[in-house]
Amino acid sequence: MKKLTIEDVKLKGKRCFIRVDFNVPLDQFGNITDDTRIKAALPTINYAIDEGAKVILASHMGRPKGIVSPNFSMNLISKRLMRLLGKNVIMAEDCVGDGVKKVIDEMKPGDVLLLENLRFHKEEEKNDDGFSKKLAEIADVYINDAFGSAHRAHSSTHGITKYVPQAAAGFLLKKEIMYFEKSVSNPTRPFVAILGGSKASGKIGVLNNLADKVNKVIIGGMLSFTFLKALGYHMGGSKVEDDMLEEVKKTMQKMTEKGVKFYLPVDFVVAERMDMRAEAKIVPAQEIPNSWVALDIGPATSTLFTEALYNAKTIIWNGPMGVFEMDAFSRGTMAMVHAVANSFALTIVGGGDTDVAVHNAGESDKISYISTGGGAFLELLEGKALPGIEALTDKKE
Ligand code: 3PG
Repeated sequence: MKKLTIEDVKLKGKRCFIRVDFNVPLDQFGNITDDTRIKAALPTINYAIDEGAKVILASHMGRPKGIVSPNFSMNLISKRLMRLLGKNVIMAEDCVGDGVKKVIDEMKPGDVLLLENLRFHKEEEKNDDGFSKKLAEIADVYINDAFGSAHRAHSSTHGITKYVPQAAAGFLLKKEIMYFEKSVSNPTRPFVAILGGSKASGKIGVLNNLADKVNKVIIGGMLSFTFLKALGYHMGGSKVEDDMLEEVKKTMQKMTEKGVKFYLPVDFVVAERMDMRAEAKIVPAQEIPNSWVALDIGPATSTLFTEALYNAKTIIWNGPMGVFEMDAFSRGTMAMVHAVANSFALTIVGGGDTDVAVHNAGESDKISYISTGGGAFLELLEGKALPGIEALTDKKE
């Protein structure tokens, strides 16, 4: 790590401001449906408690765009956090201001305070200087453990670092970077990238960046339709990004020139429409009926992709193979989960609901690392520097 980490800074008696990403999925009643992100921040929070800091946790939740709403309140998180920490968590009414300062003054070392949603202030997303300063006023030490938000240059992930004496990475951030570097910057080969999900436009940057690094690329999901169409296939009623066809051709050419083995689906599960009750059948990629839509990769593709993974030593995976939320179209994604989980490779999964697919398949324990980042993971794959990491204090040589 080139940046300071939480172990490099003194925390005893300090107001330790920890930016976490508690932006967890909720159901319609406000119940947390997946608390992975909260659990992932516990090592950092517990460490700060044990070191005797006043622990101040800050996060956003959803996109309330500066409007205070109970549906986006961090109150929805505090109970679960208390249960997971096994101790009381004080809930603040805001994330800045005199009221919050007063509560912090009264905290004892080891106490934990959860600030209210940062995005109840529209200045947060604008990386507003005044708001960044206000946040910094309640911090002696700043720790960023919000990997999921590290691609955002917001006040709590970026601006604040200008006004605190030290800005360091928490354990989660450190772990995410470490696994990423192990897999992408310094992979044991063969190195295979699996990309699925919806849009080609969102993944071209990733492919172009990985072209120099990977040995094989496996493409599934809706993403593959644009690639197949670029090769002259007829995709029926499946959604293709026609404005990306030229770009996609160039990327495939670049991969071929670099000797990257490129795998596309050879068959699909197609249906008359995206509906569990619609008639569905398996067809070769060359035979998608007019106006039918491809909703999953077919069994021959699952076999092909599984074989391609056989000798892999490093695998990264982003994006499902089909509409796995519907049972009828989940087999391809599930087959990939099992193939990745049973491989002998270092396996990193992240973004685009791929983590959800892995959890649903019950294979989480067999994946080397499941990233907590969606957009942040993708931007790292694209080779972009993440503002939340860049802003941290450099470690002295
Ligand atoms: C995420 O869920 O990807 C992060 O919490 C960032 O949320 P955002 O996309 O609303 O900035």
